[in-house]
Amino acid sequence: MERTFAIIKPDAVAKGYTGGIVTMIEKAGFSILAMRKTRLSKEQAGGFYAVHKERPFYGALVSFMTEGPVVVLVLEKENAIADWRQLMGATNPANAADGTIRKLFAENVERNCVHGSDSPESAAVEIPYFFTTAELV
Ligand code: RTP
Ligand code: MG
Repeated sequence: MERTFAIIKPDAVAKGYTGGIVTMIEKAGFSILAMRKTRLSKEQAGGFYAVHKERPFYGALVSFMTEGPVVVLVLEKENAIADWRQLMGATNPANAADGTIRKLFAENVERNCVHGSDSPESAAVEIPYFFTTAELV
């Protein structure tokens, strides 16, 4: 079993896509170990995406991620990291495969509805950023 960290981003929460996305997650066979609606501070969002600090889109990304509430989740399944990224679809929804969350719901490369850890190392950092071990049930 593998765990990954997911965010339903502010665009998707604001448009009422939370339920649809959670249904897709469960239908794909993930167990939801933890899930919470929250609002990211600038410091949290900036720290979370610190790997992108030097990228031209960093400022816009931090302001997008703090514009409204998000839903943070820990998902468990065999091959959870790759399978969740496959269900999310490509970063740019224009390139996302049919049936993926980004193809179905996302507006553009920035407002793309969901986040997923990109490696076991990222998941190991991202999960404790939001949840204690006791919250993963
Ligand atoms: P994420 O980290 O959110 O799961 O997305 P990802 O791996 O598919 O994409 P990544 O390259 O890590 O980019 C992180 C997020 O930054 C925004 N972005 N904007 N304006 C742009 O060109 C641009 N590129 C990326 C997106 O919200 C992307 O998901
Ligand atoms: Mg990424």
